[in-house]
Amino acid sequence: MEKLSIRRANRLMLMLFEEWKTHTNEGRPLKIEWNIMHMFSSAQVAKIYALKFGLDPELCAMIAVLHDIATVEGKIRKNHDSLAGEYVLGAIKRYNDGGKYKLDPITMDENEIIIAAVTVHGKKDVHSDNQYAEMLKDVDSIDAYLHGLNTEGPREERVTKFLSEIGM
Ligand SMILES: [Fe+2]
Repeated sequence: MEKLSIRRANRLMLMLFEEWKTHTNEGRPLKIEWNIMHMFSSAQVAKIYALKFGLDPELCAMIAVLHDIATVEGKIRKNHDSLAGEYVLGAIKRYNDGGKYKLDPITMDENEIIIAAVTVHGKKDVHSDNQYAEMLKDVDSIDAYLHGLNTEGPREERVTKFLSEIGM
């Protein structure tokens, strides 16, 4: 079996984990432990999703890793999707400047795809032609469901559709 090519997603996860693990919970809408757990697990769900639907697993994982960054770095819950652009750009810049593992940088094209997906992921009731945006909405819903969170309305529809698509 060929190895998955996802090293940049791993490096990005590691970078954010190193940063986030030092944060305290003071003034946070959600516990930092939850955000770290959700970052790791949604990235894994994103890879499965990408394999199932023929998307790029590394890009899907990077989108999942970054998707709640505004909640962590900006301590915001409301509009944490639409306000995420500057936080995503900052993280990608730190990643690209880091170069610790001599991996390829995250490109401007990927940057645009990531931001277009992350900044709309709260609107689970909206269905668009952007397959990466829809991937993230589905993956966010599936991962929260797998963590035992309340899953109703548009989130439930997304989880149910995915489960039936994988034969469950
Ligand atoms: Fe999320």
